[in-house]
Amino acid sequence: MQFELSEQQRMIRDMARDFANREIVPIAAELDAEERFPKEIVKQMGELGFMGMNVPEKWGGAGLDMVCYALAMEEVSRACASCGVIMSVNNSLVCWPLETYGDDAQREKFLKPLAQGKLLGAYCLSEPGAGTDAASQSTTAKLDGDTWVLNGMKNFITNGANADVLIVFAQTDPALKHKGIAAFIVEATAEGFSVIRKEEKMGIRASDTAQLAFDNVRVPADQLLGQVGQGFKVAMSTLDGGRIGIASQALGVSAAAYEAARLYSLQREQFGRPIAKFQAIQWKIADMATRLEAARLLTWRAAWAKDQGGRYSEEAAMAKLYASEASHFITNEAVQVFGGNGYSKEYPVERHFRDAKITEIYEGTSEAQRMVISALELKK
Ligand code: CAA
Repeated sequence: MQFELSEQQRMIRDMARDFANREIVPIAAELDAEERFPKEIVKQMGELGFMGMNVPEKWGGAGLDMVCYALAMEEVSRACASCGVIMSVNNSLVCWPLETYGDDAQREKFLKPLAQGKLLGAYCLSEPGAGTDAASQSTTAKLDGDTWVLNGMKNFITNGANADVLIVFAQTDPALKHKGIAAFIVEATAEGFSVIRKEEKMGIRASDTAQLAFDNVRVPADQLLGQVGQGFKVAMSTLDGGRIGIASQALGVSAAAYEAARLYSLQREQFGRPIAKFQAIQWKIADMATRLEAARLLTWRAAWAKDQGGRYSEEAAMAKLYASEASHFITNEAVQVFGGNGYSKEYPVERHFRDAKITEIYEGTSEAQRMVISALELKK
């Protein structure tokens, strides 16, 4: 066992940190306040290879390992959690299933430009009636000649209003339940596709989260991703990787809040001395630092497990569960260390506090992660 990052991993982390500090940190509060989608940052992330980090170079990606991806995600999210989720969805939820389940024609047409950051992707699984119970898909897909016809509604779709390419899950035969689900590659230009509304959100306000409608959207048969009936497996295995991305996002938010609180405690004086001299604050620093490090170790282990091949669902679920709950704890404590200033928009910790919450909800709630972990534990 060794706990050192490789030279390449350190280089990627440093590059991501420099980029985030230079380009994202100065505008993060403004993006949040204005709920502005950071098009210019997404373009730059594409140029840096951050939009398809694990995709082989042959298919337009950076050809890096999952640990590099986790490191870059943490650094981008440390600056701006919205930029983090935009990057995470494109990498984990769109490029990965295209590379894994797609054929070469699909990889050439869709994966390449997505991995290069020339197109943006979205992953459409959740529906008004299918949240944690993802198998209860009501969106239907019916074959008509050599075209699939999709009808239905998707909810809470990250990048939904800005995406060019959408991975859409739909039911081909309700009698087959999850074994009737299929995955489709849908272009946002398809007739019958529309954005119904964008959510107004507590956090990650610069990323868009949209409700989408599919009204007799015709999808060519060669845009079926994988096999009919394989869709639920495509969805779940994709989310395994996605959860490592969200764990890394939570780490970034935690790291930002922790560092802000640590520095503040050293300079803020009360009763004639820095508040860091009081045990009440010292214990908060200790608890925040310990949970941050534990979350990082679980996340890196999950990323490493993915790189080894084989199933890593439990490692990913544990990393996502722990890192997101740690982020809730750490950002809450950071606001507390800042006191009244922590509640003010003049300081960044209130944004971190709002951004942290979503990591306990999307790509599977904490309750869903506990379902995954306990099911696998009880099977041993
Ligand atoms: N990899 C491969 N196959 C898997 C799998 C995985 N990780 N997980 C389950 N499967 C397979 C099972 O082996 C089983 O296969 P068989 O029928 O062949 O035996 C099949 O899928 C059904 O599995 P379950 O019985 O466990 O399924 P379930 O219906 O009980 O669901 C669940 C379990 C854990 C609750 C799951 O539905 C789940 O993870 N729900 C949360 C959904 C979620 O994360 N949604 C987020 C959407 S994305 C998002 O947040 C928006 C965004 O844009 C960021």
